[in-house]
Amino acid sequence: MDSLIEPSSLAGGAPDSIAISNVNLSLGSGAARVHILKDISLRVGAGETIGLIGPSGSGKSTLLMVMAGLERPDSGQVVVDGTSFNGLDEDALARFRGRQIGIVFQSFHLIPTMTALENVAVPLELAGQAGAADRAARELTSVGLGERLHHYPSQLSGGEQQRVALARALAPDPAILVADEPTGNLDETTGKQIVDLLFAKHAERGMTLVLVTHDSALAQRCDRVVRLRSGRIDTTQPGSAARARSA
Ligand SMILES: Nc1ncnc2c1ncn2[C@@H]1O[C@H](COP(=O)(O)OP(=O)(O)OP(=O)(O)O)[C@@H](O)[C@H]1O
Ligand SMILES: [Mg+2]
Repeated sequence: MDSLIEPSSLAGGAPDSIAISNVNLSLGSGAARVHILKDISLRVGAGETIGLIGPSGSGKSTLLMVMAGLERPDSGQVVVDGTSFNGLDEDALARFRGRQIGIVFQSFHLIPTMTALENVAVPLELAGQAGAADRAARELTSVGLGERLHHYPSQLSGGEQQRVALARALAPDPAILVADEPTGNLDETTGKQIVDLLFAKHAERGMTLVLVTHDSALAQRCDRVVRLRSGRIDTTQPGSAARARSA
């Protein structure tokens, strides 16, 4: 089975940030039950960037949810930063996720009744972090929203809402950031700004980044491009970031 494991593309034996082994997942019930992830094994090095691509329905979002501990596989192992999800109950998994995993969605998932500042600060407060509001304000300023702290999501453009979502995901300083088509609801120019911001944050903080996208040029900006097909890893190839490093 070892041959199925896709090792990290980073040289020098960087520690695994994410190690997924022989993961299977089915969802739905009865006749509607679908075997979505089929014996997936993947290792991602600390600080590595992965572009996850594949046709619609191939299981990209589901695999991302498994990495983030939002879906539990039927079998197999998910280990993030040395912690096996199998050994965590739901509360412990939620706490771990809050500290270590930032998640960005296509449709932003902001809370409409909270300001930008509250959307970022409240999860920090719930996690018991001191100085949550200051931290949130700094994070929002760092994504260019210092003048928009007290705006509600409905008063912000799509690109600004995605910046708030990015600030919220980054505020706990997670080891891993997963993003599911973060530019899918944005026009090309705004999407490019969000992607540039995402890579700038990666360069600054060095977190592991898994980016689901339908845009193969965008995926190419990562260290490695992993293509799913029908719930299996079809191909993995170095992206331009890895090629630049080895040049
Ligand atoms: N709760 C569910 N119950 C049953 N089947 C599901 C469920 N969620 C997803 N699926 C199925 O699992 C498959 C993979 O879905 P997933 O959302 O991971 O695909 P994807 O690669 O992210 O697609 P897209 O590019 O369209 O976002 C699809 O065939 C989908 O219909
Ligand atoms: Mg999807």
